[in-house]
Order: sequence, then structure tokens, then C-alpha cells
Amino acid sequence: MPTLYDPIRIGALELPNRVIMAPMTRSRAQADGVPLPYVADYYAQRASAGLILSEAIYVSHMAKGYVRTPGLVTPEHVSAWRTITEAVHEKHGRIYAQLYHTGRVALPQWLPGGALPVAPSAIKLNGQNKTDEGPKDHVTPRALETDEVSGVAGEYASAAKRALEAGFDGVEIHAASGYLIQQFLDPTINQRTDRYGGSIENRARFLLDVVDQVSAAVGANRTGIKLSPRIKFNEVQEPDAEEMYPYIAKALNGRGLAYVHGAKQGGYDIHAPFRERYKGIYAAGAGFNAATGNEMIQSGAADAIVFGKPYLANPDLVHRYREGIALAEADPKTIYWGGEQGYVDYPSVS
Ligand SMILES: Cc1cc2nc3c(=O)[nH]c(=O)nc-3n(C[C@H](O)[C@H](O)[C@H](O)COP(=O)(O)O)c2cc1C
Repeated sequence: MPTLYDPIRIGALELPNRVIMAPMTRSRAQADGVPLPYVADYYAQRASAGLILSEAIYVSHMAKGYVRTPGLVTPEHVSAWRTITEAVHEKHGRIYAQLYHTGRVALPQWLPGGALPVAPSAIKLNGQNKTDEGPKDHVTPRALETDEVSGVAGEYASAAKRALEAGFDGVEIHAASGYLIQQFLDPTINQRTDRYGGSIENRARFLLDVVDQVSAAVGANRTGIKLSPRIKFNEVQEPDAEEMYPYIAKALNGRGLAYVHGAKQGGYDIHAPFRERYKGIYAAGAGFNAATGNEMIQSGAADAIVFGKPYLANPDLVHRYREGIALAEADPKTIYWGGEQGYVDYPSVS
């Protein structure tokens, strides 16, 4: 059986190892969604990963859900990301763009004309979102009209095309963390009575439409998807995850995706059900270290492992894992919103 350090083909790419860097929001973008210049250094420092998954990037002006997060909407976004992907490629790395629409998480102040955020149903998220002026309450979103929904799926496809223009090697559809796609999956958030609500098939329709439109735009072999069933975030509950996720696993078969990325971040263990039913490349994420990641690969339970927090302070994670070198700890104060400090100043030992 292979190890974490063996190569693998994922879609159109040949990866030198099976260590994937998880998508991690670090909030180092300008107010207009253009990533700051040193973001290129951050990703280039991590180029020895088999594959880098970028932080979540908003697909349209209606999709932005957090302050200081980056977009892939305008020509300025594309040009800034091109500098970043070139820096990664120069170091012989590979990078996918993670694409998201935050749905009801957004605040009107970031949306065109102060619009209400859109969601499957007009159900407000409790709590507050951080802004530069302090925390603000979430608002009741506007429920999308039936004939608007497929157009919103198309926003992911347009952003995917821009991602490839910007030099990304592919895109990861963010169907996790309680953002728009997972808002459709969860019956406690989606209370629609049209073809996008009710049954499992109806609630998964938006996800599959996004998959199909993105695949048509950039190729299924350059398209991956992240799922995090029952994640304890953004009020995800998913009482019927046991039915929904096996349905999604089967529905994704035959669609030729580069990979499925399953993160076990809640009360539903996605790995075994997906491995059993899903025939393509399966990347397992959340809570792994070198030993447990290798064990997953060697037992055949996954093809690749996605590592998040270990990558914050260890740009050369592959080398450290392989050589058994101790890991550095990230400073929690600079994970989000910082500048270069706590971002590009964690050294490699190699
Ligand atoms: C600082 C930080 C930011 C994150 N941002 C994202 C994100 O933008 N998109 C996403 O899908 N997951 C995000 N996550 C979740 C990670 O991708 C990953 O699933 C999670 O951290 C569990 O993996 P780990 O135990 O290896 O850290 C984030 C996690 C952290 C720690």
C-alpha cells in the first residue's frame, strides 16, 4: 500500500505526495477583495505540498461573507491571483482555488447596493459577524426565487473560469461549513417547497447543478468538492446526514471529478460511507497528523490526506512529517486579520 509520501494522480495533475494543504481563510485581502502582495509568499512557501487548496474565495459580489476576504470576480482579482499562482508554480507547486458563496452569512454592507444576502429560505443565522466597525448582527436573508437558483450555480462556473485564467490548476467547490450549498442540503435551513427543497434529491439539486456547471466550464478533472457533514458551525444541523451523504456519494459517481474532500468536523463520520460508495479519489481531512494520516492511506481508507492547522506554522510540513521533525505552533492572535507577522514569518527547517 502507498504512504503519504508516494505520488498520486488527481484529475489532470500528478502530485508528488499525498499531503494536501487544507483551504484556510487568513483574511489578508484589501476591502475590494484583492489579496495582499505577500499572500504570494505564503502560498509559495507551502509549495512542497502535493496540492495546495486556497482559502475560500467568493464567486460573485453577492457571495462575500467576511471582511478582508478575497474574491475572484473582477479583473483586479484575477491579476492578483495570477501573481500568486505563478509564485507557487515557480516553486514547482500546484494550487486549486476554493470557491464559495456564503449565502445567509453575508452582511448587506458588503453586498451591491446594500442588498439582503440570499439563501434557500428566509431564515436568519443567530449571532454576529465581525466587521471593521465591530461585530454586527446577521440579517434575515432573502429566499432565492426558483428561477434564480441555477443562475447562482452558474456564478461558481464563471468564477471557475476566472480561476483558470488566473493560473489555478483547478477549483474546489466549497460545499461545507454551512455556506450556500450546505444551506440547501440542511432541512433546518432549507424549508423550500419547490424542486430545491423537501426530499434529499431536491435539496441536493443545487449542489449537483454547481458540480455540473463548474465541470462544464473547466473540466471535471480540474474540479474537486469539499463536504463537512454536520459541522458545528453556522448552525448546521443536518438531521438526515445519514441519508443525504450516501446519496451525494452515489450521485457524484460517474461525474469524473478530480476528487472529493471529506472533512469530519461534526457528529457524522463521512470517511467510511464515502469510501464505500464513492469510486473516485477520496481525500480525508480534519484532525490528522503524520501517523494517523499514513494509517488512513495504508489501510486504503483514503487516497490523500488534507492537513489544515499543522500548515499554519509549518510551511515545510511534508519534510517535517517525513523526517519526524517537531512542529511549530501557530500564534492564535495572528491567524486572521494580521499582516505579514504570523503569516509569512514561520521558517522552514529544510
Ligand atoms: C484558520 C482556519 C481557516 C479556515 N478556513 C477555511 C476555509 O476558508 N475553507 C474551508 O473549507 N475550510 C476552512 N477551514 C477548515 C480547514 O480547511 C479544515 O477542514 C479544518 O481545519 C480541519 O482540519 P485540521 O484538523 O487539519 O486543521 C479553516 C480552518 C482554519 C484553522
